[in-house]
Amino acid sequence: MRGIILAGGAGTRLAPLTKVTSKQLLPLYNKPMIYFPLETLIHAGITEILIIMAPDHAGDFVKLLGSGKDFGCTFSYEVQEKPNGLAQAFLIGENFVDKENVALILGDNFFEDDFINPVRNFKSGALVFASKVPDPERFGVVEFDANNKAVSIEEKPKQPKSPYAVTGLYVYDNTVVQKTKSLKPSARDELEITDLNNLYLKEGTLEVAMVKGKWLDTGTFEALYQATTYVRDKELAKTV
Ligand code: TTP
Repeated sequence: MRGIILAGGAGTRLAPLTKVTSKQLLPLYNKPMIYFPLETLIHAGITEILIIMAPDHAGDFVKLLGSGKDFGCTFSYEVQEKPNGLAQAFLIGENFVDKENVALILGDNFFEDDFINPVRNFKSGALVFASKVPDPERFGVVEFDANNKAVSIEEKPKQPKSPYAVTGLYVYDNTVVQKTKSLKPSARDELEITDLNNLYLKEGTLEVAMVKGKWLDTGTFEALYQATTYVRDKELAKTV
């Protein structure tokens, strides 16, 4: 399994913090934000990792993370010229993915969970992780039937059919690249990960698991603050 960290985007909701640097380089207490999704991949046993960045701060990511040797990994880097959607990662990363399965994680997502078993046991199709949230209209929302099987996923619905958001960790088989090539840009001109997930759903190969621990999308001031406090509490607990 190969891994991609998607760390581009505009970070407009965190302006002016993101005026001179990238969101994923901002601190969550004692480490740059990108360390957290990176550690999530590494703990899941993934060591071949592609980092996709916006052009403006690409050099800073390379300076921070280097070859990957310090992390026991091999890092590759690619630039996404414009934030044209999460699914574009599989077009930018086509050569990197090659013939392998791939996990995509968003560079501003914080997971307190261990994905080693789901990654190890993954064979084919798609596996996404959901979490109950108070504001599902901000996310891709998954609806379940009486047998807990996913029946629909809607991107930022005005009237969410459930409180379950699709989080920023996605595991796909190698057909993901071909599937992405068949996607059309959405009204906001993005290749939508929700459209990709819906292709797997239609095919009957999408599995949705629950995130067991805490999950935060740290892209707003409030979430950034919460995540910082959360990491601080955990660090301080280690010292007592
Ligand atoms: P978002 O938080 O949806 O977008 P953003 O980071 O541009 O922030 P804002 O809405 O405040 O302008 O993106 C989620 C993650 O995915 C984040 O880590 C940035 C990344 N991303 C890309 O790398 N490329 C993209 O095309 C998009 C849409 C997001």
